[in-house]
Amino acid sequence: MSINLIVCHDRSGGIGYNNSLLSHQSEDLKRFKRLTLNNYVLMGSKTYESIGKLLPKRHNIILSRNKKYKVAPGGFVRHSFEEVIKEYKLNNNEQELFICGGSDVYKQAIPYVDKMYITIIDHKFENVDSYFPEFDMDEWETVDYEKHPADENNEYDYWFITYKRK
Ligand SMILES: NC(=O)c1ccc[n+]([C@@H]2O[C@H](COP(=O)([O-])OP(=O)(O)OC[C@H]3O[C@@H](n4cnc5c(N)ncnc54)[C@H](OP(=O)(O)O)[C@@H]3O)[C@@H](O)[C@H]2O)c1
Repeated sequence: MSINLIVCHDRSGGIGYNNSLLSHQSEDLKRFKRLTLNNYVLMGSKTYESIGKLLPKRHNIILSRNKKYKVAPGGFVRHSFEEVIKEYKLNNNEQELFICGGSDVYKQAIPYVDKMYITIIDHKFENVDSYFPEFDMDEWETVDYEKHPADENNEYDYWFITYKRK
C-alpha cells in the first residue's frame, strides 16, 4: 500500500494548457504506463475529460463534486479526496495508488503522498495555465535522479526524479 503522485512538468512547473498536456514525450508516457499499470489511478474530472477515456488495466477513480457525474463503465466516481484515501487505506490494498492530477488534485494530495514520480521537461512552454504546486523540498529526499537527452521520440531533454517523504 503506497500513495504516490506522478506528474510531468516543464522548467517553470507548468503541467497543462487548455485542459491538455504540454508535451507527449514518448519515454515519459511509457514511464507513466509502466508505473501505473494494474494499480489505482486517481484524477480530477477535468483531467479525465481531457484524456477522454478511462486508463485501461487500471482501477480508475475520478473526483467530482457533481453528484450526478458519470464516467465510462468500469470507472468509479468519488466526491471527496479524503473519501478516496480512506477507502484506499481500508481496503489494505496491495495495489498502489497513483495521483495523476491535475493541478487542483495535486494540491490536495501532496500532504498524503509517500512518493512523487516527477518528470521535468527541460523547456519552458509559452502557453501554460496549469501548474504543479510548490512543495517544501525539506520534507523530501531524492531516491532516483536520471537525466536523459532529447532524441527522435523525445523533443526535449528531460529528468526522471523520484522523491520519497523523509
Ligand atoms: N503534466 C501532467 O502530468 C498532468 C497530469 C494531469 C493533468 N494535467 C493537466 O492539468 C490540467 C487540469 O488540471 P485542473 O487543476 O484544471 O483540473 P483537475 O485537477 O484535473 O480536475 C479538477 C476537478 O476535479 C474535481 N475535484 C477536485 N478536487 C475535488 C474534491 N476534493 N472533491 C471532489 N471533486 C474534486 C472537481 O470536479 P467537478 O468540477 O466535476 O466538481 C474539479 O473541478 C489539464 O491541463 C491537464 O492536461 C497535467
